[in-house]
Order: sequence, then structure tokens, then C-alpha cells
Amino acid sequence: IRVAVVFGGRSTEHAISCVSAASVLANVDTERFDVLPVGITPEGAWVLAPGASTLAIEGGALPSVTAGTEVVLSGPRFVELREAGASGVLDDVDVVIPMLHGAYGEDGTIQGLLEMSGIPYVGSGVLASAVSMDKAFTKRILAAEGLPVGEYELLTRNDRTLSQEQRDRLGLPVFVKPCRAGSSHGISKVTDWAELDDAIAFARSVDPKVLVEAAVAGREVECGVLEFPDGRVEASLPAEVQTDSDWYDFEAKYLDESLELHIPAKLDDAVLEKVRALAVHAFKAVDGEGLARVDFFVTDDGDVLVNELNTMPGCTPSSAYPKMWAVTGIDFKTLVSTLIDTALA
Ligand code: DAL
Ligand code: MG
Repeated sequence: IRVAVVFGGRSTEHAISCVSAASVLANVDTERFDVLPVGITPEGAWVLAPGASTLAIEGGALPSVTAGTEVVLSGPRFVELREAGASGVLDDVDVVIPMLHGAYGEDGTIQGLLEMSGIPYVGSGVLASAVSMDKAFTKRILAAEGLPVGEYELLTRNDRTLSQEQRDRLGLPVFVKPCRAGSSHGISKVTDWAELDDAIAFARSVDPKVLVEAAVAGREVECGVLEFPDGRVEASLPAEVQTDSDWYDFEAKYLDESLELHIPAKLDDAVLEKVRALAVHAFKAVDGEGLARVDFFVTDDGDVLVNELNTMPGCTPSSAYPKMWAVTGIDFKTLVSTLIDTALA
């Protein structure tokens, strides 16, 4: 079975995608699968990429996909672009792992391309990916399904700022976020309304659509969801994020040594079970497939709020998704095999 692992890409999460791909490439069962690593440069060129050794974060420096032999997709196969118009056709690909985070990868775009090409792929389809990438649409769907979500206001591309009424409703502090991004890119915490417009401009540098969320006093908890080849959908043990940073920003996620994940989260069993049930419910509400990490806030009163879904969660050495499954009893190698088998089922 030939598996193409596609990574990098045009999003702000290019580097994190490379790091996730390195971990996945290191955990593909090579006795069962023949692997083809395919990188997408930040400019959008698809290249046959080098192996995993160059894809880690080293000394704080982030990896990226640079040059390589350019390839294009033609139906279920990649075709090498060579000089003088000659092309080399590679073997057919049986399945793709689109290990891409953020725009042009986790948002339904590559999923659409793969649908058009007739290639099975790991993870959610076009609609679930697009909905989950957009934090405002996610909240609307979850709320419509009766799932608990936090307070927020949406600024579409033509809204300049929040009205006084909207500010009074949310209260301070708030988190200002690009509606469609990940790894905390473009996010700021605002503790004084005088900082709001700069925070909106910062978020808009990533996405014209901006979300302003009321801060939730409590704990940050994450839960992995996995679909098995027989269609069963299960939730992992939840993790609790503990960091010395003021909030769980890019540094804390990938560069900060103080990051600790408690798995399972130190919560009452009833709350843990509630988180797991809500994770599966949220996954089904957006019509998720394959995998997702669902992020929650657990308030000091024990209320559980669903914050967002990540349909292609980070799989870096510091990422929660593979760690939560490992503690739940599914090691990374089994996890990758399960994802591929489910995509092919
Ligand atoms: N967006 C990052 C990769 C995550 O959710 O893990
Ligand atoms: Mg995210």
C-alpha cells in the first residue's frame, strides 16, 4: 500500500506541519506501507521531499520545505516535472495523509483536490474540514447541536471594531483571533479595550475574518477523537495543558520547555467522561472523519465548554494528540496504521 504523506504548504503553520510530518513518517509501519514524502513549499510548489531528518525544530529554528523535484497530481498518481517537457510518472498512490495544518490543507481545499483526483485520504472531508477551520462556523454548528460554547463576537471583513455594547457583553479580558488559523498565529490577549484595534489588525494580518472570544477562567483541556475502520468513534483520555506562559501561545506550544501535559487531566472522573462524550458529539456534529482533537475549557465551577476542533491536529513531539492516544493504549505506530486503514475502509 503506497502512502503519500503531504506536508508544509502555504499556511502560517507550514513549519509545524513539517514537524508533524516528521513524527508521522517516523511512525509509519514500513512492513505494511510504502511511503512517499511529498512537501509543498510556502509558495505552493509540490516537491518530492527529503526524509525526516531535516524536518525537526532545531535550536528554536523552524523547518521548511525548500526545493526538490517538482511533481503534480494527475488522477491517483504524481507526475514528475522534468526539463524540456519530459515527465516521469511515479507509481499510483493508494492513500494520502494530508499532514497539513491551517489554510490550504486543513480547510477542505486539499481534501477537494484529493476527491477530484479519486484518492482516499486520512481525516475529514471537504465540509467538516472547512467548518472546523472556521472558528465562527464551528461555534454555530456546535451551538445548534446543543453543545456548550463560550461567548464570542465575530468581525467580518467589513466590520471595523466591536461596538460598546459588544464590549460590555463580553467583558475583559478577551482573546482576539483570526477566524481561520492555528497554532496561535495572529492571536492576542486583550486586557484593556485600548489594545483592541491593534489586536484586530494583528489577527487580520492572518485572516480578514476575526473572532473575539470572552476569556474563560478555568483550565485548558484537550481530547483526541479517533475513528476505527469499522466506523466506531472513540475519545482518548483528555489532557490538561499546564504552562508558565500567560496563555497557550505559539512559544508555549512548541518552544517552551515548561509545557506540561497531564494525561489524564486532573479532573473528577465525571468531568473527564463528560469531556470525552462531548468530544465525540462535537466530532459527529461537524461530520468529522478519521481524527480530530477537540479543545475545551473547564471552568472553575466544573462547566465544560467546547472551544474548537482541529481536524488535522499537531503530531509534533510536544503535541497532545499522539500523547493522549499513547496513554489511552494506542501507540503512535498503531495510531498511524489505524488512520490509514480507516481511510481505506
Ligand atoms: N493547529 C495545531 C497544529 C494543532 O491544533 O495542533
Ligand atoms: Mg487550532
